Amino acid sequence: MKIGVLTSGGDCPALNAVLRGLGKYVYTNIPKAEIIGIPDGYGGLIEGESRKMKESDFSGILNVGGTILGTSRQPFKKMTVRDGDDPVTKAEKMKENYKAMKLDCLVTLGGAGTHKSAALLSSLGLNVIGLPKTIDNDIYGTDVTFGFHTAVDVATECIDRIHTTAASHGRTMLVEIMGNKVGWLTLYAGIAGGADIILLPEIPFNVDRVVKKITERAESGKAFSIIAIAEGAMTEEEATLKKKERLARRAEKGQTTVTQELADLLHEKVGVDTRVVVPGHIQRGGAPSPYDRLISTQVGSYAGYLIKQGIFGVTVAINGETMTYNKLEDIAGKMKFVPADHPLIKAARDIGISFGVKR
Ligand code: F6P
Repeated sequence: MKIGVLTSGGDCPALNAVLRGLGKYVYTNIPKAEIIGIPDGYGGLIEGESRKMKESDFSGILNVGGTILGTSRQPFKKMTVRDGDDPVTKAEKMKENYKAMKLDCLVTLGGAGTHKSAALLSSLGLNVIGLPKTIDNDIYGTDVTFGFHTAVDVATECIDRIHTTAASHGRTMLVEIMGNKVGWLTLYAGIAGGADIILLPEIPFNVDRVVKKITERAESGKAFSIIAIAEGAMTEEEATLKKKERLARRAEKGQTTVTQELADLLHEKVGVDTRVVVPGHIQRGGAPSPYDRLISTQVGSYAGYLIKQGIFGVTVAINGETMTYNKLEDIAGKMKFVPADHPLIKAARDIGISFGVKR
């Protein structure tokens, strides 16, 4: 049995921990199995690159950040188009190379885009298993994705540190947290870090509501405020625009997110001193947390179990402490957004945290 494996899309903590879980399961439980590592995500499969992985390759990597396989972003929309004079599409090339490598199955560790491509490959007849990776926690059908909780820890620590300097100076500080389409990371880190205002892509905000909250805090003697704002947050006005128009408008101001504009508006309207902090890719780097190591060990070994059972065309899902799976075709193209009635949003509102809208 030849098992291909690749890591695709943006990296995150715990990719290696999952690879370790898979490798150790396979070499312990599937006699004569071979694991073939494909470098740089789908890019490596398109180019037909691979290397045989020894059992020892999966040791000593549990707590190592990044991915020993390397990764790349390969947009799903380009998978079915031909490049220039190329007679075949990228998806067809991947199918050819899967066959040339004599793979019996392919395990893809990745986020929402990776899963769309995994579903496409599965529809072309490849035996594919997807594993739910991303600090965004936006994969449909799983309680959580690996990498998310480590990023929550990092972003929370960042807000903690900003808290003390904001308090010392009496400033309003905006911490821009990763998450272009969904606000899970901002919601979790915002609450865990004690932010006063949390702005999510799912809840377009009203600038005057943010102004009101900061003013009320100032009037009650709290000279500083902390805003946890997702990269993908937008004003109510921006939400009426198409994504392309919204980005074009921001580009005119030399910005890709709304954070700096909000900081400037708050300075103008409230008179407070504002600062923007962007932890960026720090949230994706470094060692996975113990919780991520635990779920990654489960996810990786469960993927090995699915291979042993001959169950393909699925993605692993975490349901409480139990591993299960969903069909790729059922989850591909869907996203797990923060619902407006999420219990954490209720708890946050109940203690006075503002989401920049009227309750
Ligand atoms: O999907 C993970 C993520 O970190 C998003 O939160 C972020 O918007 C994006 O990737 C950044 O991508 P890149 O690594 O290409 O800058």
